Amino acid sequence: MSCDGSRPQAEWMDNCKVNMEIVENKSLGKLNTFGLGVNSRYYTELTSREDFIEAATLHFHRYPEVLILGGGSNMLFTRDVEGITLAVRNKGIDMADYGRDEVLLTARAGENWHELVLFCAREGLSGIENLAMIPGNAGTAPVQNIGAYGVELKDVFHSLEAFVLGSGEQIVMSKDECRFAYRDSIFKGELKNRVLIAAITLKLSLKFTPDLSYRGLREHLDVAGISSPSLSQMVEAVCSLRASKLPDPAVTGNAGSFFKNPVVSIEKHVELQGRYPDLVSYPQEDGSFKLAAGWLIEQCGLKGKRLGDAAVHDRQALVLVNHGNASGREILRLATLVQSSVMEKFGVNLEFEVNVI
Ligand code: EPU
Repeated sequence: MSCDGSRPQAEWMDNCKVNMEIVENKSLGKLNTFGLGVNSRYYTELTSREDFIEAATLHFHRYPEVLILGGGSNMLFTRDVEGITLAVRNKGIDMADYGRDEVLLTARAGENWHELVLFCAREGLSGIENLAMIPGNAGTAPVQNIGAYGVELKDVFHSLEAFVLGSGEQIVMSKDECRFAYRDSIFKGELKNRVLIAAITLKLSLKFTPDLSYRGLREHLDVAGISSPSLSQMVEAVCSLRASKLPDPAVTGNAGSFFKNPVVSIEKHVELQGRYPDLVSYPQEDGSFKLAAGWLIEQCGLKGKRLGDAAVHDRQALVLVNHGNASGREILRLATLVQSSVMEKFGVNLEFEVNVI
């Protein structure tokens, strides 16, 4: 039988040649932004097309559990990984003209997201400047359709290349096929743990028009006396605004927003506004309302709340932090407390934005 990866059969897998270096008992402590010191029984890094194919076929079938790891910025590890961690580390950026004022930029999945934003700003390519300083890698950006300050990845997304786990087949997916929504995509649902994203392609503009739809960003620029920012001024403003509210994972472990902002019906919104005139909410196109989860959590008196080294961040209640030695289970306990408090006070369910392993 050939090594085509189509079926998991132990006897033929034993005869397949393993080219990738497999490390045993690898600590993932430095590879997740919460800084949780869990181990992976096996670990390997994907740097080439051949690695992706080998991982998607041979390793996918060989190990009982396969964890795909990008920048580790949206993960809460509550246990060790029993199987293999596939760390996506392929690099490279290509550009191609696309019409008069647009460029198609392809970034390999292992490129650091913020470095990519800086690269684009240097090249005069706009579209992702509002997403500066978001932790993580290019390949994981589509999974949760990263977003900040009025912009989401889907606004500039063109397509992606991936390998199907099991068969190793290489596929290209269009923006529609990725089914992007608020902090959501097909990769969190139907295709969860089914594909290895190898590269993303974005449609960026050579003409810069700042997106100042987010009030806080406008105010931040006003204070600096800037009314029509250049591309590099936008990147700087986004970075300093983020730094003023959000903890730096290099200093304090965290995974950005731990929860999604919940969306409620018009009826629920009327009820809550009646009880809480200061309620922070945003009308959605379909008539529903998105609520600011940070505000809900703060109203429950939980801003800065600590359970051991696990805490609700004291400047942005949507973020949970690890002050040093919290375990994933402790952070999960705190997250559950936040959820139940918000449910009790407001009757609103907070969904996790992070993946719990
Ligand atoms: N607020 C509070 N208390 C808090 C936090 C927020 O009252 O502790 C209020 C703020 O005053 C504001 C409102 O809630 O009126 C919204 O806060 P903010 O502008 O900080 O944004 P957010 O809705 O809490 C979202 C994203 C962030 C993104 C910001 C800015 C989600 C889950 N989070 O947060 O994304 O940076 O908007 O666009 O949608 C991330 O995904 O990791 C992330 C940080």
